[in-house]
Amino acid sequence: MGKVYVFDHPLIQHKLTYIRDKNTGTKEFRELIDEVASLMAFEITRDLPLQDVQVETPVATANSKVIAGKKLGLVPILRAGLGMVDGILKLIPAAKVGHVGLYRDPETLKPVEYYIKLPSDVEVREFIVIDPMLATGGSAVEAINSVKKRGAKNIKLMCLVAAPEGVEEVQKYHPEVDIYLAAMDEKLNSKGYIVPGLGDAGDRLYGTK
Ligand code: URA
Repeated sequence: MGKVYVFDHPLIQHKLTYIRDKNTGTKEFRELIDEVASLMAFEITRDLPLQDVQVETPVATANSKVIAGKKLGLVPILRAGLGMVDGILKLIPAAKVGHVGLYRDPETLKPVEYYIKLPSDVEVREFIVIDPMLATGGSAVEAINSVKKRGAKNIKLMCLVAAPEGVEEVQKYHPEVDIYLAAMDEKLNSKGYIVPGLGDAGDRLYGTK
């Protein structure tokens, strides 16, 4: 079974408090999401393999290390996932960015893919599927399906806040996928919002309502 990591770093937890606050406006909300995404990327990349290199300092030759050519791909789920991309790219500028768009079928109420674009070398990349809110888990499950269908072998899921129901759903359909969170909240309400959550992440990021 994939692991669930909840990042308890004080900076992440501090910023998440202001992200949750209903009085935080769009500009600050967007900046905070960006910062938390960077901090989460720092934690997620902790296990990237290194290789030894030598570098000439102004003084001598140093035996040093660089990341061993691991190819990363970010796949934000449109639209709220976009809010976390730049923060991750600040730390991992070489990552390629794919996109997946889903709509809710009015009859089945299930998410259906309407757009997907991934880097061409899907099989050799490690993908991070990104959505700030893991609520019912339906979108995350379908987005991971979409990426797997194109040949991806190695997928992680990065969210800000999750409901237990969403985590369970992802683990049911994609048991090998590790999930990275800033918080695991209590539950979903009858409208599908995470409680206490932070409201609609897309609306708060883009000032729509
Ligand atoms: N999507 C959101 O943006 N917020 C929730 O609470 C649940 C789903």
